[in-house]
Amino acid sequence: MNPEKIRSDFPVLQRQINGKGIVYFDNACMSLKPRQVIEKINEYYEKHPACAGRSVHRLSSEVEEEVQNAREAMKKFIDAKKREEIVFTRNTTEALNLLANSLDLNKGDCVLQTDKEHSSNLIPWLILQERKGIERRFVKSGEDGTFDMDAFQQALTKDVKIVSMVHTSNLDGTTIPAREIVKAAHDNGSLVILDAAQSMPHKPISAKKMDVDFLAFSGHKMLGPTGTGVLYGKKEHMEKLKPFIVGGETIKFSTYNSFELLEPPEKFEAGLQDYAGIMGLAEAARYLDSVGKENITMHEAELNRTITEGIKGIEGLSIIGPENPELRSGIVSFFVDGMDYHQIAMLLSSNANIMVRSGQHCVHSWFNAHGIKGSVRASLYLYNTKEECRTFIEELEKILRLK
Ligand SMILES: Cc1ncc(COP(=O)(O)O)c(C=O)c1O
Repeated sequence: MNPEKIRSDFPVLQRQINGKGIVYFDNACMSLKPRQVIEKINEYYEKHPACAGRSVHRLSSEVEEEVQNAREAMKKFIDAKKREEIVFTRNTTEALNLLANSLDLNKGDCVLQTDKEHSSNLIPWLILQERKGIERRFVKSGEDGTFDMDAFQQALTKDVKIVSMVHTSNLDGTTIPAREIVKAAHDNGSLVILDAAQSMPHKPISAKKMDVDFLAFSGHKMLGPTGTGVLYGKKEHMEKLKPFIVGGETIKFSTYNSFELLEPPEKFEAGLQDYAGIMGLAEAARYLDSVGKENITMHEAELNRTITEGIKGIEGLSIIGPENPELRSGIVSFFVDGMDYHQIAMLLSSNANIMVRSGQHCVHSWFNAHGIKGSVRASLYLYNTKEECRTFIEELEKILRLK
C-alpha cells in the first residue's frame, strides 16, 4: 500500500483552505471519493445517460451492461455466490428498512440486537413492535464495550427469529464475532442480518465464509458515490421475501387486478435506478480490492494506535470503548469533562481544517442509557497519515488548554 499514491487519487486532498491542507477524519460518516469513481460517474452522464433494461436502443443496452457488470463486481467484492443476491439500494438504512418491512415477522417473534445499534437498525424494528407486536431484546456489551458472547447465548431463545446486529460499531469501532454469532443463531433456527456499514469499507468480508443471511452497507462510506448502498441476501431468502416498494421495474406482468413479480434482485429495485451511482459504487469496490482490505485494516490500526497513545493521558478525556486501539478499528470516539463536543469539533475545523464528527452519531439510545451527552469522533481511512494524526493531537491539546 502506497499512501502517497493513494492520496494523489483524491482530488479534495489537494484542496487548501486558508493556505492549509485538510485533514479528513469523518470517514465513518462519509468517505472521500477517488478520481476513478468520479470519472466513472461522469462516464454515465457523458456517454450513455439513458435508462437500463427498458429500451432496446444502443445507449440503454450499454447502461444495462454497466449495471450487470456492477452487480458482478459487488458480488465479487463481498464474495457472494450469485448475482441475484445483490440488490442496489440508496444506503444501509434503506436496505435495513427493506428487510424489516419484507420479512414475515408476527406478534411474539423476537429480534435480538446489540446495545449499540445505529438508529437505522433500531427504529425499523421499534416500529414493527408498535405495529405488529414483535418483541425486541438487547445483548448488553461487556464492561469494556466488547461483545458478551455468554450474554448473547442466554438471550438467544427459541422465539428469536432474527438476530440483527451492527458488525462494527460507529460509536466505538468494536466488532462483534460474526461467525460465532451466525453459527449459534443458525443452530437456534434464527436468521442473521449484519449492519456492515462500518465493516465493509474497512475489513475483508466474505458472505460465503461468514454464512450470514443478510448484509446491509453503504457505498458512500467505501469511496463510492453518495446515496448508494447494497442489500445482500442469500438467494433462498431473497426468493421468499415480499418487496415493500413495488411498481415499474419490479413486475413481469400485470392486469388491472393482478400482477406477477420479477425474480430477485429486480423485484426489489423499484423505479428508475441511480445508474451513475451504481457504476461509481462498483468502481469504488474495484479500487478497494486493488489496495487490499487487509492492508487498510492494518493501516488504520496503526493510525488508531498513534492517536490513542497521544490523547489517552489528557486530563478529563475519556475514550469510549476498549482501551486497546486494536479493538476499535479506525474509530477514536471521546469526550472531555467540562468541554462541549461540538465546540471541540468546530475549533478543530476552524483552527486547523481538521474534520471530525461530534454529537451522538445516530446512536442516541446508547448515549441516553449511559447519561453521556455526546462525543467527538475521529474516524480514519486509507488516505490518512501518521502526520495527520500528530497534527490532530497537537491541535486538540491546544484547544483543551483553553478549558
Ligand atoms: C453502523 C451504521 N449503520 C447504519 C448507518 C446508516 O448508514 P446510511 O446513512 O448510509 O444509511 C450508519 C451511518 O453512519 C452506521 O454507521
